[in-house]
Amino acid sequence: MTKNKLIDKLKLDGDLFLAPIAGYSDMGMRCLCYTYGATLCFTEMVSAKGLYYGNKNTAEILHLDDKEVGITGVQIFGHEPDIIGEVVGYKELENFPIIDINMGCPVPKIVKNNDGASLMKNPYLVKEMVSSAVKGAKGKLVSAKFRAGFGEVKNAPEIALACQEGGASFVTIHGRTREQYYAGDTDLDIIKKVKESVKIPVVGNGSVVDRDSYLKMKEYTGVDFVMVARGALGKPYVFSQIRGKDYDYNIKDLIEKHIAKLNFLPERVAVNNMKKHIAYYVKGRPNQKYIKEQIFKCTSIDELLRVDIGNFK
Ligand SMILES: Cc1cc2nc3c(=O)[nH]c(=O)nc-3n(C[C@H](O)[C@H](O)[C@H](O)COP(=O)(O)O)c2cc1C
Repeated sequence: MTKNKLIDKLKLDGDLFLAPIAGYSDMGMRCLCYTYGATLCFTEMVSAKGLYYGNKNTAEILHLDDKEVGITGVQIFGHEPDIIGEVVGYKELENFPIIDINMGCPVPKIVKNNDGASLMKNPYLVKEMVSSAVKGAKGKLVSAKFRAGFGEVKNAPEIALACQEGGASFVTIHGRTREQYYAGDTDLDIIKKVKESVKIPVVGNGSVVDRDSYLKMKEYTGVDFVMVARGALGKPYVFSQIRGKDYDYNIKDLIEKHIAKLNFLPERVAVNNMKKHIAYYVKGRPNQKYIKEQIFKCTSIDELLRVDIGNFK
């Protein structure tokens, strides 16, 4: 798939993606990011096996706002081509036009199970996974998100090629190795090499937090799209800032809108999710320590809404 075909198929109006972020890229965060100009957002990763065995927790992650239908992508993780190929056709995923396969999660629990970044050790399996997903996905787009490499070897270009051969519509490269987790510099050279290695569109990810870092990513590597993760936590307006568009926001208002979008969740779950988000919304703001202390005592949405966040930008 070429960049233009991808843009046409998904009716994309820009090149800025919100990353899958476990515990954060929920419906509330995604809706706010779209409001501020994100082109495309992803759910956090869901277990292919969880889907296969009907795990109830996945339903909450897969819940979409009406305006997300046909645009937001779902990320799944697993390592068995047959299971991946089967679950991508499930009804639970019918509203997602993109199925992204996680090949970058560095967490020991995931890697020990041969999932996430562990897949980068086996390009043949990568190709099998993608091709099985493409067969099962019946016209949906399949993509994969991986890292610079696993261990010493930065084999991201080889992995990108394996994805292309398997039939992926695009790939996302996070320019850090598995060992780096989320720290240290993003290697723009390896992202550039991935871009030069494949014909399918490439999404560059890592350390993009504002317009300057976005321009650096695009100009240095030549990637087609750019994905933002931590730069959007508590700052959904970062997408407007990156686009160079005027924007306005108020933290209290963002928090209230975010909470309102989580009303489909059991209250206990919504409260716990919002505590983590609010810590980001108020990061670096006046009184943040006091606000966080109050927030972490809350046990209901009403209590959360009563905390005096202040009226600041
Ligand atoms: C808390 C947290 C959760 C994450 N969860 C996922 C995930 O579910 N799937 C995934 O592919 N990457 C996940 N990532 C990685 C991000 O998508 C992204 O690749 C990484 O943070 C680098 O981008 P950044 O420098 O813009 O933060 C996660 C990162 C963080 C910090």
